Amino acid sequence: MSDNVQGVSEGQAPLGRETSFYDLVGGHDTFVRLVHGFYEGVAGDPVLRALYPEEDLGPAEIRLRMFLEQYWGGPNTYSEERGHPRLRMRHTPYAVTPEQRDRWLHHMLASVALLKLDREQEATLVDYLVRAAYMLVNAPDPEKD
Ligand code: HEM
Repeated sequence: MSDNVQGVSEGQAPLGRETSFYDLVGGHDTFVRLVHGFYEGVAGDPVLRALYPEEDLGPAEIRLRMFLEQYWGGPNTYSEERGHPRLRMRHTPYAVTPEQRDRWLHHMLASVALLKLDREQEATLVDYLVRAAYMLVNAPDPEKD
């Protein structure tokens, strides 16, 4: 339980009911670190990297960051710029196999760990990311000879 009152123990104002998860975990800076760390992992993973069509991963990084910020109660910039997320539909051009999912999650969860969130916040974020990644699988692993 004590993990859950960190705003108070750090001498900040008591958290109002409207404080979003986005604010609780540190707002924009936290999401920049999360998504930047993730894309560093993607850049160093040739198998996963092959899925990303653009030479420059910077724009993809911004899209994912805006999406996650919006999802967790931050600014709605993603929808303003990209429209309704429809994530499954947006992933149909890419073969998201169980192997690609696991690579995606490997890099994302490594980046989450570096944020050093409190245990409950980390569990909330990880639970969501795992469920979302499992939901987006749209192709089987290629058969091995
Ligand atoms: C399961 C493994 C996943 C793989 C292999 C994957 C791969 C990709 C690829 C190749 C793109 C295109 C890059 C771009 O142009 O932005 C993309 C876009 C995107 N992905 Fe994923 N993704 C995965 C999971 C997820 C998850 C779990 C989320 C959200 C929690 C997510 C959110 C997004 C978003 C928001 C975009 C940009 C959509 C747009 O506005 O065009 N992806 N993904």
